[in-house]
Amino acid sequence: MLKSLFVIAFMVLIWACSQGGFDPVTVSKSKDGSFYKEFGHLLFFDRQLSFNSTKSCSSCHDPKMSFTDGYRKSLGATADLHQRNSSSLLNIADYNYYTSADSTITLIEKQVLLPLFNNKVVELGLKGYEKEVLSRIKKDGNYQKLFVNHDQNIQHLDWQTIIHSIAEYCRALNSYNSKYDYFIKSNNNSVFSNQELNGMKLFNSDSLGCSGCHGGVNFNKPKQTNSSLFIANGFFKIDKSNVNTLFDEDRGLANISKENKDIGRFRVPSLRNVVITAPYLHDGSIKELKDLIRIYGQGGYLNSPKDKRIRTFSLTREETSDLIAFLGTLTDTTYLKDPFFLSPFGF
Ligand code: HEC
Ligand code: HEC
Repeated sequence: MLKSLFVIAFMVLIWACSQGGFDPVTVSKSKDGSFYKEFGHLLFFDRQLSFNSTKSCSSCHDPKMSFTDGYRKSLGATADLHQRNSSSLLNIADYNYYTSADSTITLIEKQVLLPLFNNKVVELGLKGYEKEVLSRIKKDGNYQKLFVNHDQNIQHLDWQTIIHSIAEYCRALNSYNSKYDYFIKSNNNSVFSNQELNGMKLFNSDSLGCSGCHGGVNFNKPKQTNSSLFIANGFFKIDKSNVNTLFDEDRGLANISKENKDIGRFRVPSLRNVVITAPYLHDGSIKELKDLIRIYGQGGYLNSPKDKRIRTFSLTREETSDLIAFLGTLTDTTYLKDPFFLSPFGF
């Protein structure tokens, strides 16, 4: 009797698996049933979207690390090093500019062209492989099924739809459930420990001036309303023995504007999840927050171009911990419970 029950249970299991017990198309579902978001969800995690099927967007934007990759600089599909540190993709729908030093990229659709087709720094390396990869996607059973479910004809698929779908997926990666958000909503000081309260005071104080640049809901908008979002914060390395020698190849906003006044100016980054997105800065050059705070205290590096809002200050070890504890209240990993934020392929 027991034995036959086992056999039946086993058969049911086999049946469930053959019915697609694990089905990426089902897992990709979005709350509002949007075709674009669901298609974008599959594409974001699909390594077939690189010329040699080795990398996906998620290789450098891993949900477990707040959609960063933990490396100083990211590795593309040809194992070439990216010039920058991978940035978190949470809440980017609320940003005005994309990437850390380009005032011309104001739409996610435009940003997505870089990882797909850029060949100066190869990320997914699809330039020259557009036709091949498009037909790869059209032939894939998961995509065919998704298209049928949404009454779409996969034969009409073009790159514009792919780009828009990935952008729609990125735009939907919103997560505002940190302890800090709860603190703001509840308006109740007891949500924070004394250490966190003290850290917040320091962050907002005139002597440190952090919130002067890191303001707004994502801590990336300067308080001064006429301020550019691209600011020199004093971490740009210049040869100490010869001020005219730039150590850093990456000149920041000046790469685009070609103006000397823009050398070393980078976008003020969001500080959400900052405790779990090390290493820091556009080039990943700082490993730990305590070092970053110490250098801020010195007024940045010697000779580095810097904004007037960068001040010198000195903190005790305890105060530094308090400031870091406050930054810790900006951590939100609740999105990890939502399958829409995770790989639909189960790895
Ligand atoms: C090889 C690693 C790598 C791959 C693959 C990659 N990215 Fe990125 N991504 C980066 C890096 C590094 C940055 C920061 C670029 C900069 O600041 O100039 C970035 C920045 C971004 C940004 C801008 C975020 C912001 O804060 O403005 C978006 C959006 C983005 N990537 C989406 C994607 C999507 C979508 C894909 C897949 C089509 C993808 N990325 C593939 C490394 C990668
Ligand atoms: C004058 C404007 C300004 C002030 C003041 C300022 N920051 Fe920044 N901050 C920036 C800019 C710009 C960057 C990005 C620089 C880069 O990418 O190289 C940055 C980067 C950071 C980062 C790295 C984030 C990441 O993900 O890489 C942290 C953390 C940070 N700031 C915390 C602080 C703290 C704490 C204070 C106060 C002690 C402060 N900032 C004061 C403009 C400022």
